Amino acid sequence: MINIGIAGIGFMGMIHHLSYQKIRGAKVAALCEKDPVRLAGDWRTIQGNFGPRGEQMDLKGISRYSELDEMLADPKIDLVDICLPPAWHADVAVKALAAGKHVFCEKPIALTAVDAQRMVRAAAKAKRLLMIGHVLPFFPEYNFAYRAISKGRYGRLLGGHFKRIISDPSWLPDFWKSDRIGGPMLDLHVHDAHFIRLVCGMPRSVTAVGRMRGSLVEFFSSQLLFDNPRLAVTATSGAIGQQGRSFSHGYEIHLEKATLFFDFSVVDGKGELSMPLTVVESNGKVLRPDLGAGDPVLAFEAELKEVVAAVRQNRQSPILAAALAADAVTICQNEAKSVATGKTVRF
Ligand SMILES: NC(=O)c1ccc[n+]([C@@H]2O[C@H](COP(=O)([O-])OP(=O)(O)OC[C@H]3O[C@@H](n4cnc5c(N)ncnc54)[C@H](O)[C@@H]3O)[C@@H](O)[C@H]2O)c1
Repeated sequence: MINIGIAGIGFMGMIHHLSYQKIRGAKVAALCEKDPVRLAGDWRTIQGNFGPRGEQMDLKGISRYSELDEMLADPKIDLVDICLPPAWHADVAVKALAAGKHVFCEKPIALTAVDAQRMVRAAAKAKRLLMIGHVLPFFPEYNFAYRAISKGRYGRLLGGHFKRIISDPSWLPDFWKSDRIGGPMLDLHVHDAHFIRLVCGMPRSVTAVGRMRGSLVEFFSSQLLFDNPRLAVTATSGAIGQQGRSFSHGYEIHLEKATLFFDFSVVDGKGELSMPLTVVESNGKVLRPDLGAGDPVLAFEAELKEVVAAVRQNRQSPILAAALAADAVTICQNEAKSVATGKTVRF
């Protein structure tokens, strides 16, 4: 049995807690939360943009801590799952690793590449696993693309375009603070930066244009170049002022023998799959693979299953490894630098 201690019972902490209940061999043994009401089990104020609303919970048998250090000192905890705001990730992960725990931490790994590398080094020194919650490759459309690319099912990857746009999250007071959340680049685009890193490797350079809000990028488009000069990848991400389309993501991926495309948005409060995953094959066939129910919570269950399996087998996850997440933050930083300076940035 892998005993898990979750740090932070907000939207993600709740989704992780509920998901672990469905994973054989995993047990939430401890929770750490500074809000005494949530720590006592009243999760009714928790509501994210998907998944169930929080309920009154029965937390019998689960150790509860208001201080992180106390949970890190709990000898029964094997894995610390960090669901705290991003500004906490680096320091808490480094402490947990030094305390001998494996760590799974929500995205982004950290707010700076320097902190991300500090976390990667701490894991290597402690000989413990550090995995980061890049859940996108566990969403059916992205999982299909990841598997098709990594298995070479349609030949080599030639490039693609990745899009991720939200309405300005005016209800998150820290969203536009670089030392708290880091705006759309680190909160949003980091998902695509990680996916691009996963399937393309590390870029050689980036040229990006866009508009800034203070010191943070508000909206941008970037062109990423790789060692392979034939690999052409672009991305668009950011926040728009209007609330009527609160979320939008999608991609077009070019492979030697097929093109994959997909587009999903939330418009006027309702999810609209404007383009379900579509595969156009070289022989002219157009396929619409059946991807199942499409509940985002299922992607988190699949992600956490991978985390628990990696800890049980003491192996690194090829998707969730912290080094990839650290590279994703470096990609975001260089894209932001390119937008801010108007110059191409080399890695
Ligand atoms: N993978 C995804 O799709 C996804 C979606 C949403 C959020 N996230 C990530 O999950 C993380 C958490 O986001 P969230 O939306 O759940 O945040 P949240 O604000 O809903 O929850 C954070 C919780 O941590 C608690 N907390 C803060 N500081 C604490 C401390 N020092 N000790 C104990 N508890 C403390 C807060 O009281 C709150 O309950 C962020 O890194 C975010 O980027 C990921």
